[in-house]
Amino acid sequence: MTSNVVTIDLSALRHNFKKIKELAEPSVRILCVIKSDAYGHGMLPVARGLESMGADYFGVFEAEEGVRLRDAGIRTPTLVFKGIGADEIPAVVEYDLTPGVFDLSITEQVSDYALRHGKVVPIHIKVDTGMGRIGVPWEEAPDFIKRLLHMKGVTPAGIFSHFSVADEPGHHFTDVQMERFQRVVATAHDLGIKNPLIHIANSGAILNQTGFEGHIVRPGIMLYGSPPSRMCPHRGELEPVMSFRSQVVQVKTVSPGTSISYGRTYIAESQRVIATVPVGYDDGYSRLLSNKGTVLIRGKRAPIVGTVCMNLTMVDVTDIDCVSSGDEVILLGKQGKDRITAEEIAEQIGTISYEVYCSIGKSNKRVYVGGDGGQRAEVRGQRSEVRG
Ligand SMILES: Cc1ncc(COP(=O)(O)O)c(C=O)c1O
Repeated sequence: MTSNVVTIDLSALRHNFKKIKELAEPSVRILCVIKSDAYGHGMLPVARGLESMGADYFGVFEAEEGVRLRDAGIRTPTLVFKGIGADEIPAVVEYDLTPGVFDLSITEQVSDYALRHGKVVPIHIKVDTGMGRIGVPWEEAPDFIKRLLHMKGVTPAGIFSHFSVADEPGHHFTDVQMERFQRVVATAHDLGIKNPLIHIANSGAILNQTGFEGHIVRPGIMLYGSPPSRMCPHRGELEPVMSFRSQVVQVKTVSPGTSISYGRTYIAESQRVIATVPVGYDDGYSRLLSNKGTVLIRGKRAPIVGTVCMNLTMVDVTDIDCVSSGDEVILLGKQGKDRITAEEIAEQIGTISYEVYCSIGKSNKRVYVGGDGGQRAEVRGQRSEVRG
């Protein structure tokens, strides 16, 4: 049995959802981004928790995730960000999913399929206002909308775009994107799309109080308790939802000159007490933490010494009294008065908290606490299940 456990605290998720509601204007609805297995937190338990809180919409990346939601009895309207491929059209129509669209040919195929099945599918038009990723280029949006309006099996129920630097307070490019977006929305209105749902604000925009002109905000990382970047004010006292713990498997005292782990990147300069923890990069605990990261044992920081291996990591516990095999090790989360955050780990390895959550969450057994009905679930390798 593994001693490594990721704990997902659903009460923290509910807390963060409430904080987002407080930060957004009262009339603004919330589209909760639960793509990528809810950033590694587990899409279904997270969706159930948020649905019970009154989430207005869910955002997933591809249709298959939406199908999993529906199969699990989750009925909240669900937007598929990626757009859809021809093979996903039946699922979108049959499972009442809302595709983000930016491709006329696919949208026409959705329309034809829907009409053949006696349905009209709501779509949200994805506009690229400067992210440069997916979406109808904003200059081409008027022509796109005109042609879309001839398709009788789809109805434009929303228009959305995505900010690229909203986490940087006061960045001029956010204003540029907002202005482009507003122009597209005004054009859509003139062309006859009267009451679409308008949305552009991600967590960065919510924390920096911009982009609320729309009707829905689209938070992801805030729900899970992290700000999108260091530049973003940590408003609203978010609570991290994920924690990750293990247990010491061995403690030994080593003499000066002893080397630890592959590559001998750490050599003890004096007598040290070294604890071995059965966690490594196979568990989503990055090898880039070698000789950099710290863990919490008995409420104190223990620095990683030597290279993080596939399944084992060594830490220096010389300054912590009485560490012994079986002691709890916190790799992410709180112990005593101290907390290791995903932001801290991200900074040590040159990435963002999003990646830390996805890597750790998807690689380990997850246990759910703080749910309304005392939910508990255990999952490993969720990603391969999602992608089937
Ligand atoms: C289209 C879209 N909207 C919203 C979000 C949520 O962003 P964040 O997690 O920064 O709030 C994402 C995340 O990548 C996204 O792709």
